[in-house]
Amino acid sequence: MAIKIKSEQEIALLRESCVLAAEVLARAGEIVKPGITTDDINTFVHNMTIKAGAIPSPLNYHGFPKSVCTSVNDVVCHGIPGNQVLKEGDIINIDVTCLLNGYHGDTSRTFAVGKITPNVKRLMDVTERAMDDGIAVATAGAYFGDIGSAIQELADEFGYGIVREFCGHGIGRVFHEEPNVLHYRSRDRGERIREGMVFTIEPMLNEGKPGVFVEKDGWTVRTRDGSLSAQYEHTIAITRNGPEVLTRLD
Ligand code: MF3
Ligand code: CO
Ligand code: CO
Repeated sequence: MAIKIKSEQEIALLRESCVLAAEVLARAGEIVKPGITTDDINTFVHNMTIKAGAIPSPLNYHGFPKSVCTSVNDVVCHGIPGNQVLKEGDIINIDVTCLLNGYHGDTSRTFAVGKITPNVKRLMDVTERAMDDGIAVATAGAYFGDIGSAIQELADEFGYGIVREFCGHGIGRVFHEEPNVLHYRSRDRGERIREGMVFTIEPMLNEGKPGVFVEKDGWTVRTRDGSLSAQYEHTIAITRNGPEVLTRLD
């Protein structure tokens, strides 16, 4: 199977689901504060998505039990919302995916809970910059491998571990489709990036080593060494003028 090329009309529909996901994410971020639970975030995301006439893509996806992923501190990704109470100094990634008009839009950010230390702020800022650096090189004619190289160049500068087990992905009528977008340098430069491709870039950087494990719940991914992990994600479309971030609000 080859990487799908989306038409202008498909990209217009993707833009709508992506803007909704970005709006839900921004609003969910506003309720983050010490004392709320990750289930409060789930309820908020679920209700806002449904009100907009969309479906939260995570719900029942391969059996995922909730409408959003909430990943706190050493949880790398796929955290399941529950009764965990957020406390001052935590960080939390909220990963929102909406299915609207038949197309998925996928975006995430890491938020600080109250006041955080400068080291934690740096992990968050560098992870966002790593995503932005990956996006910047995603132009038609470049290779998918260029994205991972750009991300690794920045992560290495700070000594952060790049999670290797989870990748960015093509997205459209299907939540996860080809290709896998690696966030680290690889000898295999992968396929060429072409106009009309739509995919996510979503690096996870650990303050410590890159290793992770999956909890017995089958979903929650944690750093092996217990260090903090941050993640940012955008869905982008490749246009003749370069990458268009579909999940950006302006
Ligand atoms: N939103 C995640 C991603 O960026 C995938 C979540 S799958 C779920 O690809 F089942 F955990 F929701
Ligand atoms: Co994704
Ligand atoms: Co996501």
